[in-house]
Amino acid sequence: MNKKTIRDVNVQGRKVLVRVDFNVPLKDGRVVDDTRIRAAMPTLQYLLDHGAAVILMSHLGRPKGSPDPKYSLRPVAEHLAQLLGQAVRFAPEPVGPQAEAMARDLRPGDVLLLENTRFHPGETKNDPEFARQLAALAGPEGLFVNDAFGTAHRAHASVVGVAQYLPAVAGFLMEKELTFLGRLLSQPDRPFIAILGGAKISDKIGVIRSLLVRADRVLIGGGMANTFLKAQGKEVGDSLVEDDAVPEARALLDAGEGKLFLPVDVVIADRFAVDAAKRVVSVDEVSPGWRILDIGPRTVARFREICREARTVFWNGPMGVFEFPPFAEGTFAIARALAELERAVTIVGGGDSVAAVRQANVADKITHISTGGGASLEFVEGKPLPGVEVLEDR
Ligand code: 3PG
Repeated sequence: MNKKTIRDVNVQGRKVLVRVDFNVPLKDGRVVDDTRIRAAMPTLQYLLDHGAAVILMSHLGRPKGSPDPKYSLRPVAEHLAQLLGQAVRFAPEPVGPQAEAMARDLRPGDVLLLENTRFHPGETKNDPEFARQLAALAGPEGLFVNDAFGTAHRAHASVVGVAQYLPAVAGFLMEKELTFLGRLLSQPDRPFIAILGGAKISDKIGVIRSLLVRADRVLIGGGMANTFLKAQGKEVGDSLVEDDAVPEARALLDAGEGKLFLPVDVVIADRFAVDAAKRVVSVDEVSPGWRILDIGPRTVARFREICREARTVFWNGPMGVFEFPPFAEGTFAIARALAELERAVTIVGGGDSVAAVRQANVADKITHISTGGGASLEFVEGKPLPGVEVLEDR
């Protein structure tokens, strides 16, 4: 990684504005999955141990540029206080008089979390004035640290704009993500196998194209495989299909000849429900009125076999509707197959595949679990991430 990190600068006595990705799931006012918060802890701990005062900014959800209590970061402040074992102050606005007063009062070792940056209309527009106000909270000696890999693909004020006003360096999570995912782009150990799933092909056309060039094999499952099967002229019944993307799928099949692997059998259901009747059939035997909800056992065996020789595996997107237990086996089997690979670097990105790896109890057997969904895909596609581009080079 050629970007400066917090190790390369003096943070002692400075106010450090840290962009984190605390876009975490909440339920009844509590954090239900704190993976992303824990992932930022090494950076926060380092800054506090080295005499900085920390001002944290994040978005949560997609509010429409004005305050919306259901997206408040207040529960995250409480959760973070428990993890850090110290008080975390909470500014009930991202900028403005209260945030300014609270930032002014900070002493080395203090932590302040600002309210959701997307409560301000300037955030998603990358408004320079909003960015300037955020940066000003860190004062004249301030520093900007981007540790929000999961949001690095967004050219927003708290990710990109603030770097116009403060020296900008990477945090440890950002460094770790760029190091692991960077290995997929530059000289991955081969064979390099990519496994892509999820509902939609339209979101992933760019990344499939790029992986067909970079990877040795690309294995496709999940809802998006249906569009490929349809492009091959197969009957897919009532399966989820993106008709608009069929021509693109056909082009990818041509481009990926010999490299792109689709399911050979599938689990079909008579309706979209957890208690639907189900059958395992070859991809040539999907009956009208039925829908594909998972990959079948022969596909699992084939994908496992292909992965067995791999030295690098990247996985994004579930193989089926794994939130319905009867249709989760394909996704969990892929999670377990990755966990068995002792000689390979295994990298999993995207909320659903990460959740699957955890539910299958194999997270500790995966080399790197990315905190980025969209960001990891854009990175693997080879697109520059705006939140990385603005950081100072070494
Ligand atoms: C994510 O969850 O992928 C990031 O936090 C980015 O969120 P966004 O897609 O709402 O910009």
